[in-house]
Order: sequence, then C-alpha cells, then structure tokens
Amino acid sequence: MERTFILLKPDCVQRRLMGRILARFEDKGLNVVAMKMLQITPELAKQHYAEHVQKGWYPTLEEFVTGGPVVAAVLEGLEAIRVVREMLGATNGLQAAPGTIRGDFSSSRQMNLVHGSDGAESAAREIALYFKPSDFCDDTPTISKWMRAADEA
Ligand code: CDP
Ligand code: MG
Repeated sequence: MERTFILLKPDCVQRRLMGRILARFEDKGLNVVAMKMLQITPELAKQHYAEHVQKGWYPTLEEFVTGGPVVAAVLEGLEAIRVVREMLGATNGLQAAPGTIRGDFSSSRQMNLVHGSDGAESAAREIALYFKPSDFCDDTPTISKWMRAADEA
C-alpha cells in the first residue's frame, strides 16, 4: 500500500466540487486515511511549493492558494501516487485529457482544482507538512476484499 497527498485547492472549494472530486477517488478504491480543512498561509505555501518559489509566476500561485479554504487529505491505495496523478491529468486544464479531473472540470493552467504528490519523496514531505501521526485513522474498510484479489495487495 502507498500513501499520497492531495490538496483540494481554493477553486475546488469555492466551486462546490469537493464532494464530486472526493467521490472520484473513493470510486477508484482509494481510502481517505487523513483529512482536514484549513487556510494556507504564505509561509506554508512557500514550503509546499518550494520547487516553484523562484519562478516568475509563483506570486500569483501563492495569492491563489492562500485565497480561500482548502482541503488537505492523504489517500491510500496500491500505486496511489501514480494513480492519483493520472486521475488529475495534465497541469493545464485546457490540455488535460477528457476523463481526468482537470480535463473534465478545469479550463485553467493555475486553477486546476487539485494538487497531487508527484513521487514518493514529495508524498512523504507533503504528508509531513500538513499532518502529524495522530491525525491518521488507520482502518481497513470491510469492502476491501471486493476491491481486489488477496494476492494483489
Ligand atoms: O500541479 P502540477 O504538478 O501538475 O504542476 P506544477 O508544474 O508542479 O505547478 C504547480 C502548480 O502551480 C500548478 O498545479 C498550478 O496550479 C500552478 N501553476 C501556475 O500557477 N502557473 C504556471 N505557469 C504553472 C503552474
Ligand atoms: Mg508539480
């Protein structure tokens, strides 16, 4: 099992898409193991997007992600990091494939609704940035045996 970090960005919350987006991850069989709503501070934004802080477009990204409440969550599942990134689609909603979250709901390069960790290292870093160990609710849903064969996990 693998864990990945997602962030429902302010556009997702404002557009009342939280439920529909979370439903996609639940439908896929991913388990929500931690979740909270918060407002990102400029300091947290700089930590989260450390790799982009020097980019010319970073100030507008910071203004966007700190501009309203967000929902942070940790999803667990087989190959969860790759699976979630593929469900999100390309960064720019105009280029994201239909069927992906960004392809279906976003027409923007910045307001693309959901962040997902892009690798094992960033997943571990981002999970630790938003959650502490006691925030996790470890629980194996009873439906798990109908989601995949026993020898797949
Ligand atoms: O989120 P993803 O990993 O697909 O994209 P990224 O290239 O790591 O950029 C992080 C986030 O910055 C994007 O999801 C956009 O919200 C935002 N962004 C932006 O505001 N302007 C750009 N030119 C590129 C990205
Ligand atoms: Mg990225």
